[in-house]
Amino acid sequence: MIGFLLICAFFLCVLVWICTRPKHFPPGPKGLPLLGCLMSVPQWHAGCAFMGLMELYYKYGPVCGFYIGPQPVVSISGYEACKEAFLNENLNGRPDNAPARMKSKGKRMGVMLVDGDFWMTQKRFTLHHLRELGFGKKSMENLIQNEVKFLLEDMERQIEDGNHHFEFKNYFNVSLVNALWMMLASARFERNDPRLKLLIELFDTVFRSGDIIRVAFPCPAILIKMFPTFFAKLGRMDLLKEVWKFIEEAIEDHKQKLPQSEARDFIDVYLKEIERDVDHSFSEEQLMNIILDILSAGADTTGNSIGFALLHLIHHPEIQTKMQLELDEVCGDSLPCLHHKPQLTYTQAVLMEVQRMSGVSPLAIPRRALKTITFGGYVIPQNTHVIINMHSVHMDETYWTDPQIFRPDRHVDCDGRIIKTDHLFPFGGGKRSCLGETLARTSYFFFTASLVKMFVFRSVPGSFSPPSIAPLDGFTLGHRPFYAFLTKR
Ligand code: HEM
Repeated sequence: MIGFLLICAFFLCVLVWICTRPKHFPPGPKGLPLLGCLMSVPQWHAGCAFMGLMELYYKYGPVCGFYIGPQPVVSISGYEACKEAFLNENLNGRPDNAPARMKSKGKRMGVMLVDGDFWMTQKRFTLHHLRELGFGKKSMENLIQNEVKFLLEDMERQIEDGNHHFEFKNYFNVSLVNALWMMLASARFERNDPRLKLLIELFDTVFRSGDIIRVAFPCPAILIKMFPTFFAKLGRMDLLKEVWKFIEEAIEDHKQKLPQSEARDFIDVYLKEIERDVDHSFSEEQLMNIILDILSAGADTTGNSIGFALLHLIHHPEIQTKMQLELDEVCGDSLPCLHHKPQLTYTQAVLMEVQRMSGVSPLAIPRRALKTITFGGYVIPQNTHVIINMHSVHMDETYWTDPQIFRPDRHVDCDGRIIKTDHLFPFGGGKRSCLGETLARTSYFFFTASLVKMFVFRSVPGSFSPPSIAPLDGFTLGHRPFYAFLTKR
């Protein structure tokens, strides 16, 4: 009897401990004992988890705290709070949980989900060498324009064959993976290469499966591996096996042909660094994980941004025409180049407006509080997951009149110049901001501008309404697969 009472008392203590919020923890929904808000996330807002955080922002204010299981989570919304969070070095950690480790074969590796000195060294090295290999240089322009040309030729051929109905589902990811793969491994794939197709489908499934809030649930890896579909909201990392294999083969191949003199690509540069490295921060395993992070973070986000841009232009044919007139006037018969960009004000404004309303990363990748801090008058305990809600700023009426309306002109001043704004940060902010921002901006610009210059995008004739702009939820947002009717201009 005494034993039974002791066990009950023990469990009661655990329950009270788990359910009691730390002193000065930010206000937020209470949730259930042990599960916290795990089950209520879908009820905050039907369809999209990130919109649930908007509801919490309106109800509890810019700093809102809740639990997912025993894991404390704080969401930060509104310009002032987001800006402060981006700049707070104590929020530069990333969660260390089962899904993050499963991505990297059970270890903490790569650049996206690691932190501390290891992250800093690896991010600096990767950025520096990708810059040398093309980021922010003329060679990047050539690389992307090449992929744009392949894509346009392919689409033109289809139209010449009488096919005007195009299905857009991961359509641009092929070209974007190719641009990345050229920098990483000096190779590209044919559009219908089955391995490339599989790779893109796997990334799509992994990205759309999870959600940034519920991934905080601390579930042992063994359970996720045993019941992957049940725990799908923590991300289908089990599907990455094929991708690991693919990257490892490329690394092995490079090792056999490693040049003595100048490196051909990022894999060469990194392999040479492994030979030089004395403190073992660089390894083949880590190289595989960096490549995985770059491919996964790079192609899906940029591809969906282009897709969202086309969807908005189908919904607003008058904006599409205005953009086409500007492209014709500035670029003449040629395709858009970087030197045209400063004059393509309206085109830039359209791209900005798409990122404001349909940003593919409405929430930054979750951060981890490296130590207990005071933030906005509340206490954020060490190891809390912190989610920075950029969408809350992009849709804030204080900075954007009628934020729900797609109006590119809002980004252009009366002298026809782009208005520089501090209230649009689709790539995050601070030291943890997007590693591929330069490449992403350039690809997004070249692909969208070139497509709109070459083709007219319309709803399929006979359809009752234009295709839906409502996003598909996930770690990042994707556009729904859609059909469009294309004619050559
Ligand atoms: C339109 C396209 C893209 C968007 C909207 C985007 C957005 C973002 C955002 C919001 C973050 C999180 C920032 C934070 O936590 O504050 C991020 C991180 C990251 N992005 Fe991107 N990204 C894009 C394209 C790319 C590309 C092309 C690459 C690779 C070449 C890339 C690689 C990364 C990596 C590695 C990180 C993690 C950085 C770190 O943890 O330090 N992204 N991105």
